[in-house]
Amino acid sequence: MRFSGKTVVITGAASGIGKAAAELFTRDGATVYAADIDVAAGEALAAASDGAIRFQHCDVTSTEAIRALMDRAGSETGGIDVVFNNAGAGGARAKIHEVEPADWDRTMDLLLRSVAFGIRYAVPHMQGRPGASIVNVSSVAAVGPGYSPTTYAVAKAGVLHLTKMAAADLAQFGIRVNAIQPGFINTDIFTSSLEIPDEQKGMAKGVIAQMSSNAQPVKRGGQPRDIAEACAFLASDAGSFITGASLLVDGGITLGPRYSWDPEEPAIFGALEALEEQAKANAGK
Ligand code: NAI
Repeated sequence: MRFSGKTVVITGAASGIGKAAAELFTRDGATVYAADIDVAAGEALAAASDGAIRFQHCDVTSTEAIRALMDRAGSETGGIDVVFNNAGAGGARAKIHEVEPADWDRTMDLLLRSVAFGIRYAVPHMQGRPGASIVNVSSVAAVGPGYSPTTYAVAKAGVLHLTKMAAADLAQFGIRVNAIQPGFINTDIFTSSLEIPDEQKGMAKGVIAQMSSNAQPVKRGGQPRDIAEACAFLASDAGSFITGASLLVDGGITLGPRYSWDPEEPAIFGALEALEEQAKANAGK
């Protein structure tokens, strides 16, 4: 019961990583304010929780909605101990030479401004709370190209820098701020914005589940629970000496190109060595 008596606010809590975190924090004793735009799924989550999870409709692209969420959690329980800024979606898909300004802005508002104001409006309710902690969701996409569309990757890189700046700004209040960079985690994020029939979404989910188990050095698919556990660690007393940090939870997907960890994958260096062997064999003839 690491979070007994604690108040935890989680955005994007109706699905995937946020939902797993809501379940984990309540299992460990917390009261969770679960915020999302998906009212049906959010209310179902709360209904299944015996009162430990309280759902609040909150579109994190609205700073007023974020403020209302934090004010409700703070006023109903006396203060906020943990904030998990997690809500997100894939955002603009176009490359930089084609992206429209409105799509850029919408994606930045959803993935970066939401985190800034999730912090901004939580802080008044976190001051004076021992062990107060904020965890922001970034992504392996912040490492470089290859993991997501451009706008998403830039927003997630912004979350890393925001995390460091906020950690410095909020140290005076004893509030720690950290980030998590999830790798390929098997959730609805890959299919939810696709304009295809539900049946095809189901098939696509199956393909993604299969791909995710073979995409990185750790030979299983990343699960929402993996990220929830990392969040709970950073937010708990066990993480009390950690602030301004980012934790990669990616099964090693960012370790290097596939040939560097998969013996089945032909490596450039292996090919060069084979050439050398061949040359030696030819010379010996
Ligand atoms: P998900 O699609 O399962 O859950 C995202 C939740 O956010 C949904 O419940 C959705 O309704 C909610 N949401 C979307 N827009 C919102 C808004 N404007 N206001 C409030 N709630 C909103 O996706 P998942 O994978 O659990 O994503 C959670 C976070 O993890 C996101 O920030 C995502 O970018 C990040 N992430 C996910 C990775 C993955 O492989 N699944 C990898 C790296 C980062």
